[in-house]
Amino acid sequence: MIKTKVQHHLEVTDLTADELHQLLDEAAVLKKQHHEKKINKDLEGQTLAMIFDKSSTRTRVSFEAGMTQMGGHAIFLSPEDTQIGRGESAADTARVLSGYVDAVMIRTFSHEMVQEFAAYSSVPVINGLTDIHHPTQVLADLLTIKEQKGTLQGLTAAFTGDGYNNMTHSLMQGMALAGIDFRVACPAGYEPDQTIMENASALAAAHGGSLMITKDPEEAVNGADILITDVWASMGMEAEADTRKKTFMPYQINAELASLAADDYIFMHCLPAHRGEEVTANVIDGAHSVVFNEAENRLHAQKALLKKLMI
Ligand code: CP
Ligand code: NVA
Repeated sequence: MIKTKVQHHLEVTDLTADELHQLLDEAAVLKKQHHEKKINKDLEGQTLAMIFDKSSTRTRVSFEAGMTQMGGHAIFLSPEDTQIGRGESAADTARVLSGYVDAVMIRTFSHEMVQEFAAYSSVPVINGLTDIHHPTQVLADLLTIKEQKGTLQGLTAAFTGDGYNNMTHSLMQGMALAGIDFRVACPAGYEPDQTIMENASALAAAHGGSLMITKDPEEAVNGADILITDVWASMGMEAEADTRKKTFMPYQINAELASLAADDYIFMHCLPAHRGEEVTANVIDGAHSVVFNEAENRLHAQKALLKKLMI
């Protein structure tokens, strides 16, 4: 197949709903293959450059392992070791790396930087987390929900905590594409980005889902099939951590709040988690938690994405 235009993955909505469902099916095939230790050479000879301006365990290891498992190679680039850290522009770096590698994954602060990089890149660019979006995590999350619930249809998910957050924004888009009813509970002043919210709401309606934003965590969690939360102070917000702990405490997912969810609810968290803050140990380490399967699914969902963008 000859690709006429390079495809990037900067937000979940860079995929259509059909593409999302195909990608989840492919991820399930790749997961089975991996568990059966089948050799896969789908990306033989291909190289992924990975630019990390923020810390990572899951994203780095799952992308690098994924490339290796498909016969390709990944290169880790940190600001300490590259000219990016000394001020070389995104536009120049994109044009240089496009001559060497077959795709680039970037984790950084500014979403605009990744957009600029993609605009100058002639190879696919994948957003590995910015302050505004974390799309590859949500691909893994949807794969996990489909595995656990057997379907993406007729489900209600609730997120409690920071609304203006990369995970919340990407979840709003992913849930909308999947047609899942999604409720976000956050304190006043921490609501999601208005434009992302409006677009996700319209997308949800078009796919049989809905989006609700509330200040009341009990309203969000009531009867939900899926409970999700994330850290209260994301990377780069360390100075606000103490204030945020006080503001967000009513949004903690603990046994009492979780008792309002459906009896067979699942608990999800992109990790890393802070037990005693956004979630209590008895929930994240309890029988309803699927967080480690969710973490593993980063590998499988991203392999499907790499194949989609690179072949
Ligand atoms: N969930 C996630 O992106 O984890 P890392 O920060 O470890 O990559
Ligand atoms: N919202 C978190 C996600 C970490 C994977 C952060 O940006 O730090």
